[in-house]
Amino acid sequence: MHAIVIEDKQLVWAEVPDPEAAEGEVVVDVTATAVNRADVSQRQGLYPPPPGASEFPGLECSGVISALGPGVTGHHVGERVCALLAGGGYAERVAVPVGQLLPVPAGLSLVEAAGLPEVACTVWSNVVDRDRLRSGETLLVHGGGSGIGTFAIQLGVALGATVLVTARAEKHERLRALGADLTIDYQTQDFVREVLDRTGGRGADVVLDIIGAKYLARNIEALAADGRITVIGMQGGRSAELDLGKLMAKRGRISSTALRARPPADKARIVAGVRDRVWPLVAAGLIKPIIHTTFPLAEAAAAHDLMESSDHLGKILLLR
Ligand SMILES: NC(=O)c1ccc[n+]([C@@H]2O[C@H](COP(=O)([O-])OP(=O)(O)OC[C@H]3O[C@@H](n4cnc5c(N)ncnc54)[C@H](OP(=O)(O)O)[C@@H]3O)[C@@H](O)[C@H]2O)c1
Repeated sequence: MHAIVIEDKQLVWAEVPDPEAAEGEVVVDVTATAVNRADVSQRQGLYPPPPGASEFPGLECSGVISALGPGVTGHHVGERVCALLAGGGYAERVAVPVGQLLPVPAGLSLVEAAGLPEVACTVWSNVVDRDRLRSGETLLVHGGGSGIGTFAIQLGVALGATVLVTARAEKHERLRALGADLTIDYQTQDFVREVLDRTGGRGADVVLDIIGAKYLARNIEALAADGRITVIGMQGGRSAELDLGKLMAKRGRISSTALRARPPADKARIVAGVRDRVWPLVAAGLIKPIIHTTFPLAEAAAAHDLMESSDHLGKILLLR
C-alpha cells in the first residue's frame, strides 16, 4: 500500500508494507483522514508517536473494514466505520483496535465522518467526562476556529451552556453562526475583561485551553468560583508560574490530558462514551462536521501548509 511517511521533516507519499490486524484489531481501508495540529508537530520532530503506534501520522480516519484479526467479534468485513487512531491514518490501510471504532453517525457520509473522532473524543472526555459541564454554565473555548474549537462550540451549545470563544476577528461571524454567544478577538481584546463583562463578573465555569503557559494566569482570572480549567495544548508554551492563592480562593481546578498516549482501554471507554452521548447529537443535526477543505492524501504537505497558516476554520480532510 501507499502511505505518507516523514523524511527529513517532509511528508512523502511512499510504498510501505500493508498493516496486519493483531489480536482484537481490524484493518480499515481508509476513505478519508484528517489533519490535526499534532501531526504538524510530529512532522517537525517534536511529537514522536507513542510506543507501539504506527510511525505514519494520522490520528483518525473513516473507511471500510477489510480484515478481522484473531478474537474479533461483532464486526464484519465491509462495515463502514470511523476510528480514533494512535497514528497511521495517512495511509491506504490502517490496523485499529476494535475499541477505537465508531459507527458512521446517521446522516453523514464516510468522508464527513473522517474528521470527527479525534475532536469528539478530546472535547467530550475533557469538557463533559472530566469537567462535568452542565446546562446553564459558561464554557470558554480558546481557539474557537480550530478543529477542536468548532466542535466544542457545538457540543457546549447542545448541552445548554453559554459558549464564549477567542479567535482572530475574521473567524467571528462563522463562529457565531455555529452558536458561540460571544467571540473575543484575542489580538485586540483582553479576554479576561470580556468574559467577566459577559458573565456579570462571575467568570467561566469551564475553560478549554489550547494555549497553555501564556494563558495560565489569565485563565484563572477569568474563572468562576468552583471553575474547571483543562489544558489540552501548549501553543503558548509549557512552563508558567501558578498563583495557588488565586486558584484556591475560587476553589478552582486545573487539569491536563493528552488523548494519544492514553492506554487502549481508556480510549475504548472514551470512544464508548462518545458513541452513546455525542453521536445522537450528531445524528440529530445539533453537531455538524465543520470541514474547511479537502486535499488528496498524497498532497498532505499542502494541507499541513494550510494548517500552519491557521487560515482554516474547522477540519482539513485528506481523501484517498
Ligand atoms: N491534549 C489532547 O488530547 C489534544 C487532542 C487534540 C488537539 N489538541 C490540541 O488542541 C489544539 C487545537 O488542535 P487542532 O488540531 O484543532 O488545531 P487547529 O485547527 O490548527 O487550531 C489551532 C488554532 O489555534 C488558534 N490560535 C493560535 N493562537 C491563539 C491564541 N493566542 N489564542 C486563541 N487561539 C489561538 C488559531 O486560530 P486563529 O486563527 O483564531 O488564531 C488556530 O485555529 C492544538 O493545540 C492541539 O495540540 C490536544
